[in-house]
Amino acid sequence: MKKVTLITGSTMGKAEYIAEHIVDILEKYNFNTTVTYGPSLKDLPIKGVWLIVCSTHGAGELPKNIQPLAKEISEKKPDLSQVNYGAIGIGSKEYDTFCGAIHKLDQLLKNHHAKRIGEPLEINILEHEVPEDLAEIWIEKWKDNIINLA
Ligand SMILES: Cc1cc2nc3c(=O)[nH]c(=O)nc-3n(C[C@H](O)[C@H](O)[C@H](O)COP(=O)(O)O)c2cc1C
Repeated sequence: MKKVTLITGSTMGKAEYIAEHIVDILEKYNFNTTVTYGPSLKDLPIKGVWLIVCSTHGAGELPKNIQPLAKEISEKKPDLSQVNYGAIGIGSKEYDTFCGAIHKLDQLLKNHHAKRIGEPLEINILEHEVPEDLAEIWIEKWKDNIINLA
């Protein structure tokens, strides 16, 4: 059974709702899922599949609950070459720094040799009143990439 570890970064809970909705879909396809909320590095498997679901706050900044993880990765420089990850950003196009946080996390993971699977999904909450709907369409395709991983 394929395992997916979801990593959420959120200030007001929207990214967490989206992650929890994704879990329902992945479990329907018999994935084994774990959702983490602003985890530290020791809470995460350093191989396998991660799915980052993160909103943006401040001016393109990471939500406070995921800042410690980003700092830990930058400082401890773990080898993430055995990690495959997907990325979902939630933000608002009223900000110039639309989905800035997921861009930063994507770059950070790449810098530590993790491999991204598929293109990131960037959800503009101004356009998608029910962001779970868009996430659902995306995950239906993304999960096929995971099934096909060796
Ligand atoms: C103070 C504040 C700053 C924000 N800054 C950004 C930003 O720089 N870029 C962006 O895309 N969205 C920004 N947003 C929009 C949030 O990312 C959006 O409301 C999102 O749905 C929040 O998700 P969350 O509940 O998981 O934190 C900001 C929202 C607030 C309230």
